[in-house]
Amino acid sequence: MTKPQEAAEKIEALREVIHRHNDAYYVEDRPEISDAEYDRLIRELRALEEAHPELITPDSPTQGAGGRVGPAFAPVEHLVAMLSLDNAMSPDDLREFEARIRRALPQANFDFVCEPKIDGLGVALLYERGRFTRGATRGDGRVGEDITQNLRTIKAIPSALHGPLKDATRLEVRGEVYMPREAFARLNATLEEAGEPTFANPRNAAAGAVRQKDPAVTATRPLEIFLYHASVLEPVRFDSHWERLRALEKSGFTVNPRSERCPDVDAVIAYCRRLEADRDTLEYDADGAVVKVNDLEQQRRFGATAHHPRWAIAFKFAARQATTQVRGITINVGKTGALTPTAQLEPVELAGVTVSNVSLHNEDEVRKKDVRVGDTVLIERAGDVIPYLVQVVTAKRPAGAGPFHMPRTCPVCGAPAERPDGEAIWRCTNVACPAQLKERLFHWGSRRAMDIEHLGEVVITQLVDREICRDFGDLYELEVPQLAGLERMAEKSATNLVEAIQASKGRGLSRVLNGLGIRMVGERAAQLLAARFGSMERLEKATEDDINEISGIGPKIAQSATRFFLEDRNRRIVRHLRDVGVDLTEKGVSDRPGPLTGKTLVLTGGLLGMTRDEAKDAILRLGGRVTGTVSRKTDYVIAGEDPGGKAEDAKRLGVTVLDEAQFLSLIGRSQ
Ligand code: IVH
Repeated sequence: MTKPQEAAEKIEALREVIHRHNDAYYVEDRPEISDAEYDRLIRELRALEEAHPELITPDSPTQGAGGRVGPAFAPVEHLVAMLSLDNAMSPDDLREFEARIRRALPQANFDFVCEPKIDGLGVALLYERGRFTRGATRGDGRVGEDITQNLRTIKAIPSALHGPLKDATRLEVRGEVYMPREAFARLNATLEEAGEPTFANPRNAAAGAVRQKDPAVTATRPLEIFLYHASVLEPVRFDSHWERLRALEKSGFTVNPRSERCPDVDAVIAYCRRLEADRDTLEYDADGAVVKVNDLEQQRRFGATAHHPRWAIAFKFAARQATTQVRGITINVGKTGALTPTAQLEPVELAGVTVSNVSLHNEDEVRKKDVRVGDTVLIERAGDVIPYLVQVVTAKRPAGAGPFHMPRTCPVCGAPAERPDGEAIWRCTNVACPAQLKERLFHWGSRRAMDIEHLGEVVITQLVDREICRDFGDLYELEVPQLAGLERMAEKSATNLVEAIQASKGRGLSRVLNGLGIRMVGERAAQLLAARFGSMERLEKATEDDINEISGIGPKIAQSATRFFLEDRNRRIVRHLRDVGVDLTEKGVSDRPGPLTGKTLVLTGGLLGMTRDEAKDAILRLGGRVTGTVSRKTDYVIAGEDPGGKAEDAKRLGVTVLDEAQFLSLIGRSQ
């Protein structure tokens, strides 16, 4: 046993470290250690406190739910405290949990509900008489932050309920806001391209998005939610958690389809094993499974500690971390000339894959983590396939390892590199840099862009090095004999490649736009632009404001897209594509005027049948514009519930005000 004085010091030190990590996690959304390591610290502290209960203080991180309230939002006192969950690290821990509840209620029969434990951001949503009235973060468990306006932008959060819970006087539901992995990867790619700091994982990206000061920014972030608990439900009653989940689902909420009823602890363990085996195939990060006693009366009898409910436990998946050494730091040149530092690692096995390098993203990131050649580093594959560097184990740093400095020239073409003010990314300044051109051509042919089979790295390298291809259009002028002369290119493969390139001509505008690699315009933005403008010609004529109006497209994307078409070099690239016969239109998007063409609309108040974004999309699709303020130029004001001052402005200015039903008939939808 540790001596009391030593224990007191150790406890104090642990508390300080944990508080600091709580701040990094909850307040700054930038955790410095992995969840597994955090849990280890908490467990260590709890064990020490159990051995020395006289040293427990109310402000110890083990005594509350953990976390703090951040600065920017109004505080919300939760109707019922938002607790944490107790952890099970192994099947044995699950058996012990079952034995514990059996001892507490020896006469009872139990069944369980198992659900994925989503690694996102816990939120509480309040519905009063079927209307969404307030949403809050967990905060410290007792008081959270009011993020209602941001949550309203999430399409999966219904503003009005239907089904069994629509008349409930009060309903508080809990759930996890998360960012699907694919969407996360796209967001990071966009941020990286724009020279902005990227997020380490989907959880941080989701937390950053819901805690934005401007809901318009949240609206551009691809967020989803799964609901898993009703903490207040008046006056409706259910007997089981399972029935309540079904009722939530029927009322318009998204409930995780992988939730299952398990009759006993063996079935629970089998579920946890299955889910862990499937974790990479899920569309979201899950760090475990949550096991809940199904019967609500039993739940009530078990109650909760100050930290967690006694009727539930989280089964944690094995952490996927490893330590290894940094052999070197190299620089990758991307398609827009971004210089990305990459750590070359002593190869290490991590949950079934060998990892030999990790991206260090940008100069600031290397500096923040202070990664040096020779360092021992902790890396993690956080459910996601892309491993990342969590931190340096500074205690193991070899003597003489100096800090890393970004090169001032491009390692491929030798041109000067620059880091524009306010950006995190160093770029090669040479637009003709072969490394950039190779990356751009590679991206052009990639599956989600023009999808050109056989256009691999080996061919591209030769095409660029021999100066056969200088832009995308050149690809379409390639002929078989020319290609057949390249290394590893027989007549047959040359024919296949030419055919594949020609076949890509008809892929349509959205893929062309994605393929062009316009900064910040990824796949989603490309699709939105193509759907809105229908042809390259119309897009080239669009103003920044026209583009900015599209919901899902922010001002930075709008600016980047318009700038792209202003540059002669880019206009030439597009002209070349047109000349070689690449289809620059989008099928199914009409050129004819829609019923709202040229009309300006203002939306005010809440609509019952659709979200604000859906309404905006519908208007844009029919050719209209949506603005925020009413003026004489406004054609219609659409007044939903509690319309406020804008409807009055409209009356004063003689602008037509439509209610929801009239609006629906204007856009050709029945109620
Ligand atoms: S139940 C009283 N179910 O995990 C209800 N939580 O570590 C307690 N979480 O704060 C929560 N998926 O933010 C529950 N299916 C799920 C969950 C889940 C993720 C989060 C939640 C909670 C944290 C506890």
